[in-house]
Amino acid sequence: MEEVRWSVLIVDDEPYNRKLLRLILMDKYNLSFATDGVSALEAAQRVRPDLILLDIMMPEMDGIEACRRLKATPETADIPVIFISALTEIAEKVNAFNSGGIDYICKPFQREEVIARVQTHLRLYNLQRSLEKRVQEELNKRRIEEQMLIQQSKMAAMGEMIASIAHQWKQPLNALGLIVQDIKDAFDVGELDKKYLEQSVTQSMDLIKLMSHTVQDFQNFLKPSAQKMTFNVTEAFYEVVNLFSDQLKKDNVNIRFNTDRTLKLYSAGYVNEFKQVILNLINNSRDAVKTRIKKGEFKGEGFIEIAIEEVKDMVVVHWRDNGGGIDESVFEKLFQPYVTSKGEGGTGIGLYMSKAIIEGKMEGRISVFNTLDGAEFVIELPLVRPGDRCL
Ligand SMILES: Nc1ncnc2c1ncn2[C@@H]1O[C@H](COP(=O)(O)OP(=O)(O)OP(=O)(O)O)[C@@H](O)[C@H]1O
Ligand SMILES: [Mg+2]
Repeated sequence: MEEVRWSVLIVDDEPYNRKLLRLILMDKYNLSFATDGVSALEAAQRVRPDLILLDIMMPEMDGIEACRRLKATPETADIPVIFISALTEIAEKVNAFNSGGIDYICKPFQREEVIARVQTHLRLYNLQRSLEKRVQEELNKRRIEEQMLIQQSKMAAMGEMIASIAHQWKQPLNALGLIVQDIKDAFDVGELDKKYLEQSVTQSMDLIKLMSHTVQDFQNFLKPSAQKMTFNVTEAFYEVVNLFSDQLKKDNVNIRFNTDRTLKLYSAGYVNEFKQVILNLINNSRDAVKTRIKKGEFKGEGFIEIAIEEVKDMVVVHWRDNGGGIDESVFEKLFQPYVTSKGEGGTGIGLYMSKAIIEGKMEGRISVFNTLDGAEFVIELPLVRPGDRCL
């Protein structure tokens, strides 16, 4: 570490002082010089020294003013400044510190004192810089990891959607095939007149429109929300659940809404991210119910019950299922990343992401407890009243 030669800028209008300081410091440091405040600023910009020794009384611009300007310029603001001056008035010293100086050496100065103070401050400065660098590196690492998590969970959602589209397309696609086949048959037996053809075209177009709607719904779902907006929480739940209701039915999960779709309860945030939370909840409840059915643990049907209400300036959502509840082994760490009880079948980021979205981005809360036969998630979001809507 000591191999590095730090650079020090010496600013003094007295040639004798500059010479003295040079003699004291030249062995250890790379030195540069300036003779007044104005040229000190210019030199600091050019050389970017690791430390500045600054005289106070100088022509043109004094040291205090120079220091103030150094501190006001982002590129030089962090460079430690030690004042060197014969001024001994306490008010002057206070002034020097107020302008951003880090230390003060009185003239006439002692060789040892100069060396000790310069060394100490360079070490401190270096320590601070390497700490800042470490923090920055750590933050960057976190950001990249976070990005990867978001990406992973998007991919999972995409897989889910493709399965859903495939499922929802099955019937109309079959029907379309039949219509086309039928046109050929009608032609073969001479029944294909204009009216017949028109009817077939209309039927086909209706089916195609339906299929294209399905894709559009999912496309909208995947788009990241560009900005925070007010949205109807009830409607968001209905929309997402409806997108996946076909598949849920197939998996024996019934959705029970205890809240009317017309109930308008608004909150603010990135609505598509919030929908991602709902999808995570759906997937988790469905997995839980499926596992339970597979184990032969219950005969009835699986359900998800959703109740949305307004409680003291909050929109409160109760999401209850009968999937057997959360396993003890994961309960405590449920909202931490990579916590899963599904082995290869899960990545353990669904709930981590959900918490990050609700608590980190929407100033809400998510919590969970086990009921007699399942899990209950409670989501609380700040209520936005129509009057203070930020649309
Ligand atoms: N409704 C639920 N019923 C029972 N257990 C649940 C429920 N929701 C979550 N869990 C438990 O919490 C764990 C973590 O859930 P989380 O959604 O974070 O990850 P995951 O579902 O395992 O994987 P993925 O990243 O694919 O979502 C699950 O593995 C499961 O054990
Ligand atoms: Mg999950």
